[in-house]
Amino acid sequence: MNVALRMLALALSIFVLAPGAVTAQQPLKIGLILPMTGPFASTGRQIDATVKLYIEQHGATVAGRKIEVLLRDDTGVAPDTTKRFAQELITNDKVEILAGFGLTPLAFAAAPIATEAKTPMIVMAAATSAIVTKSPYILRTSFTLPQATLGIAEWSAKNGIKKAFTLVTDYAPGLDAEATFKRVFAAGGGSIIGEVMVPLRNPDYAPFIQRVKDSKPDALFVFVPSGEGSAVMKQFAERGLAQAGVKLIGTGDVTDDDILDSMGPPALGTITSFHYSAAHPSPENKAFVAAFAKANNGQRPNFMGVGGYDGMHLIYETLKKTNGATDGDKFLAAAKGMQWVSPRGPVKIEPDTRDITQTIYLRKVETVDGKLYNVEFAEMPAVKDPPPAN
Ligand code: PHB
Repeated sequence: MNVALRMLALALSIFVLAPGAVTAQQPLKIGLILPMTGPFASTGRQIDATVKLYIEQHGATVAGRKIEVLLRDDTGVAPDTTKRFAQELITNDKVEILAGFGLTPLAFAAAPIATEAKTPMIVMAAATSAIVTKSPYILRTSFTLPQATLGIAEWSAKNGIKKAFTLVTDYAPGLDAEATFKRVFAAGGGSIIGEVMVPLRNPDYAPFIQRVKDSKPDALFVFVPSGEGSAVMKQFAERGLAQAGVKLIGTGDVTDDDILDSMGPPALGTITSFHYSAAHPSPENKAFVAAFAKANNGQRPNFMGVGGYDGMHLIYETLKKTNGATDGDKFLAAAKGMQWVSPRGPVKIEPDTRDITQTIYLRKVETVDGKLYNVEFAEMPAVKDPPPAN
């Protein structure tokens, strides 16, 4: 190349790179919308803590951009509030990424805003299968109820449970869990002898648990959202279901690490399938649990916390690939197919669905060093969100 051509190439590269380089200097705001108060505040607290932990461990600057998190409390099941926050964060505060979303109705409410603004939306908590179909800019780092339910439904059918009763919270993730449990348990030869749905708002489990006891199933399959497990466990114990020969099984939401130890002896022996246990014996998880405890008065992270931590990992690694650009289409293209070893085990963002593939573990509540934990005893590697049965 002669000198003139070299100069021209240099000039062109400066011209092409300049706009990106300018963007790279600006702080990057992430709008984090979480229930920090109300009945689902534990979800907000967990994710807020792991987002902070991730930034502390990995630095507040990535790909030349300083990360600023703008936290908004949407207070629980208030979809209009979530939607308004998403809109204001984008329009007024100029956030370039939305994240959080503690419950399905809140993720559904924000999805059209992400689509309209072409803003990446990282779902760190909500777990209804259909969420990823609500916007092409959604990426999920939590899990799906069908994915988590497969393991326990197969295990139950193979381990002497012939008659099951289902109890789920009456909203989309509960419907997902119930449908998957019924389909897979029945395919394995089991029969469903009863089903109940409990309201999401102000649930009273007592009358439902009594109905379960009266119909004498071998097992009760439960899905309730994070935070509700203690109330279910209390009724299960008070009404003497274990003594009546009913086994408690479910997805791991019911034996949520955040509240498991406080449930006491009635929780012992509960078998669940799930993607995360604070007792997962990998070096990555041991480091994560220790760092979380250190930063949070000795508390343990739960599955919501790990969803937040991995959400930040996905944001950081994607920004490294885009050189700090957050344009929805570029960001999504770079995020699709990303794989890493999470504290929960190996995970992947499927390029076609933008959903998370991960190991699902079977676990039993046991005492470890004087505290209750979900101890893993079997695993199903690389489980995708299963396609809906028709
Ligand atoms: C949801 O609303 O999608 C949701 C919330 C809490 C859970 C699971 C699913 O534990």
